[in-house]
Amino acid sequence: MFAPGSIDLSGKVCLVTGAAGGIGQSTIEHFEELGAIVYATDKDMISSISYNYKKFDLLAEDELSSCLNWISEIRPDVLFNNAAIFDMGSVLDANLQSFDKLFGLNVRAFYAIMQACAKSMVAEEKPGSIINVASQAGHRGEALVAHYCATKAAVISYTQSAALALAPNKIRVNAISPGVIDTPMWEHVDKLFAKFEKKEIGQKKREVGKAVPLGFMGRPKDVARAALFLASDQSEYITAQTICVDGGNVLR
Ligand SMILES: NC(=O)c1ccc[n+]([C@@H]2O[C@H](COP(=O)([O-])OP(=O)(O)OC[C@H]3O[C@@H](n4cnc5c(N)ncnc54)[C@H](O)[C@@H]3O)[C@@H](O)[C@H]2O)c1
Repeated sequence: MFAPGSIDLSGKVCLVTGAAGGIGQSTIEHFEELGAIVYATDKDMISSISYNYKKFDLLAEDELSSCLNWISEIRPDVLFNNAAIFDMGSVLDANLQSFDKLFGLNVRAFYAIMQACAKSMVAEEKPGSIINVASQAGHRGEALVAHYCATKAAVISYTQSAALALAPNKIRVNAISPGVIDTPMWEHVDKLFAKFEKKEIGQKKREVGKAVPLGFMGRPKDVARAALFLASDQSEYITAQTICVDGGNVLR
């Protein structure tokens, strides 16, 4: 029986990747607040934490493999598949080194982690929830952002395929597409736009915030709240969907 308004993650084992970043950290805080048992990973070290943490660089083959072994020990109920990197370049100048890095993390490692969690959930006969972090960039190409947009379109596509394959096992797979969210990633994005579009530092960030229909950049907690809903049993009839958390930027 649903208790309207209550989201409870008590006892759920939740794995978060990209844990040191803006959205990852906020999602961990929200998961913990609602009783989840959190396991988290990032390539960077995190200090003063209350949850189980391991440092893995998911672009390094041996560390990715160690992470996959760790997943088989953790046996998560929920995956927040969030680690990713951004780079800029049009089809005329985006190079293959950038392609390998972006596809290596945003698609290859993303896929390997989703697959390892799905296999563990199937073996455990657990009704799990997989939440993949896509982007508004996955819904349409951008002239200067060829590789990143393509990686996030792949995240949306894998979400749909995985959701259909895992539905008989009662494992739900959804994606969240953040719009422009004020995190450390945006400092990097802003600097790249300053270079490519010859803008002042901070100018692009102000412009994209103003252009959001709701009038401001999203905050990490906006994404975390959507993740809470998708992680919980309150969303038990929702699968194969991509939820845009973007203040109205993408119309679907
Ligand atoms: N911030 C935005 O506006 C925005 C918009 C759309 C989508 N997103 C997506 O949201 C997610 C989180 O982004 P964020 O804004 O919190 O970014 P962030 O840069 O703050 O966090 C990303 C995290 O990924 C980690 N990471 C990078 N390379 C790694 C590697 N090789 N191995 C392991 N971890 C690695 C980083 O250390 C970082 O902690 C990403 O998937 C991103 O693409 C963000």
